[in-house]
Amino acid sequence: MNKKAILLAGGAGTRLFPLTKIVCKQLLPIYDKPMICYPLATLMLGGLREVLIITTPKDLPMLRDYLGDGEQLGIRIEYAEQPKPEGIAQAFLIGAKFIGDAGASLILGDNIFYGKLDFYRHALAIERGACIFGYQVRDPQRYGVVEFDTQGKAISLEEKPKQPKSHFAVPGLYVYDERVVDLCQTLRPSARGELEITDLNLLYLGQKQLHVKLLSRGMAWLDTGTQTSLLEAGNYIATIEHRQGLKIACLEEVACRMGFISQSQLSALIDRLPKGEYRDYLRIVCDEGPNAGPASVG
Ligand code: DAU
Repeated sequence: MNKKAILLAGGAGTRLFPLTKIVCKQLLPIYDKPMICYPLATLMLGGLREVLIITTPKDLPMLRDYLGDGEQLGIRIEYAEQPKPEGIAQAFLIGAKFIGDAGASLILGDNIFYGKLDFYRHALAIERGACIFGYQVRDPQRYGVVEFDTQGKAISLEEKPKQPKSHFAVPGLYVYDERVVDLCQTLRPSARGELEITDLNLLYLGQKQLHVKLLSRGMAWLDTGTQTSLLEAGNYIATIEHRQGLKIACLEEVACRMGFISQSQLSALIDRLPKGEYRDYLRIVCDEGPNAGPASVG
């Protein structure tokens, strides 16, 4: 199984200026917690415990301050710099040493997934090739777009096409086999000067080694790239959390439910948290026991 993951949290966040003047985009709040918690929770719920966070030299200290080396969550977090936003696929060149001769997942620090994550766990179990996903959206031209033939086989991939061939966007969660670094080394920058993730996926597609799985409409995939989508994502999380009384992407809870930390480790961690609603919530999770009730791991 593919056990390592890169969480890409760089970029200038220009579209969200002035929100991003001081704080990096991935630390902006999505309702009650920083954005980066959501993609990190997705990785953890996939069972991954080795994560490389790639970010800008300016933002790295702030992210490290927040998440540290991951020990408190029972995972290992390393950090690396991407001096300029020269493309999503560059993450694999920066992370080559971290990946070694294994494969890796990549998740974008501004992508939020909510729902049953079986699609990701299945992708992690694929031995050879790459796996990406398709998700129906109203405005596919904002994303990488995948087209299928009548048998449901992916036949084309385009990055932000003006005239999309389908309504299926490619979310920012990708799983690659051990060839990923070598293949990235053959990529050349696109017209906008970036090593495109879509070009990497096209290499796998050309070798008939690209699995594309559709996410069901019951899944929520939210992006947070604009002021409006940021607000919508926050409202979505708030709505579900209020309805259920459960938190989404509460990292300490995820760590305990996944068995990365014990109940007593969680309890000790809660004692160090400031008084407030977040701590009260975790105390309830801890007292009930992480495996209590149907809320265990979705
Ligand atoms: O969100 C999914 C989409 O993400 C995919 O459908 C597209 O195929 C993919 O290219 C990407 O599109 P975006 O327009 O969202 O890419 P953006 O340049 O905004 O980068 C996404 C995140 O990755 C952003 O939070 C910043 C970070 N990033 C981006 C680049 C290009 C980096 O950290 N470094 C980079 O060099």
